[in-house]
Amino acid sequence: MELIRTENLSVKRGGREVLKNVNFFLQEREKVFIIGPNGSGKTTFAETLMGFVEFEGGIFFKGKRMEGEEDFYSLRTKVGYVFQNPDDQLFSPTVEEELAFAPMNLGYSRGKVKTLVESALEKFGIRHLRDTPIYKLSGGQKRLVSIAAVMTMNPEGLILDEPTNGLDEENFLMLVDFLRSVEKAVIVITHDKNLIDALDWKKYYLKDGYLTFVK
Ligand SMILES: Nc1ncnc2c1ncn2[C@@H]1O[C@H](COP(=O)(O)OP(=O)(O)OP(=O)(O)O)[C@@H](O)[C@H]1O
Ligand SMILES: [Mg+2]
Repeated sequence: MELIRTENLSVKRGGREVLKNVNFFLQEREKVFIIGPNGSGKTTFAETLMGFVEFEGGIFFKGKRMEGEEDFYSLRTKVGYVFQNPDDQLFSPTVEEELAFAPMNLGYSRGKVKTLVESALEKFGIRHLRDTPIYKLSGGQKRLVSIAAVMTMNPEGLILDEPTNGLDEENFLMLVDFLRSVEKAVIVITHDKNLIDALDWKKYYLKDGYLTFVK
């Protein structure tokens, strides 16, 4: 079953064509990398899929064309987006509140929210940071919290933009393990050769606005 598809997706930013007729297809539970040089439009592609950027062409989620803000609002509850810069994503006073925000907003019961938050704290090894104010976290800790925070929505898909930035060896290995085992569709945008080598995933290459399949 198809999860996300784009049809001749084109985006202009600052008068420049950043994406040109991108045709992309992601199955449910399929995992892919998007690679490409700095400024080639990788983050723009992710932001466009999430409905943050004006575009031409089509974006489809489970076969349904995404048209207005309502469609993208619903998509954002089903696809978790981890920003390239965690400071753009995290906004709650503490780690626990950040993790609880999305599932509470989705109307889950208190018990369910608690279960999801505990499981994310555990999975990402950040239980000890539960009550820590976000501004006191290190860069790597913020990265882990921002990934944990989208997992508590229990999404069907994940888009992670440079997820290994700032991670030490131990957390890198934990992330690899997580990405390998998570039963969701995943798009990882990365420059990290170690990550690409650790996971035998399909690769797409973005350059000069064109997306091509590598392997
Ligand atoms: N908010 C914005 N407004 C105008 N132009 C933008 C904006 N964000 C990005 N751009 C432009 O779009 C192009 C693609 O940027 P983007 O951030 O998508 O690249 P990237 O592939 O993610 O790069 P990197 O590897 O450095 O993260 C660049 O030319 C950039 O200047
Ligand atoms: Mg980027």
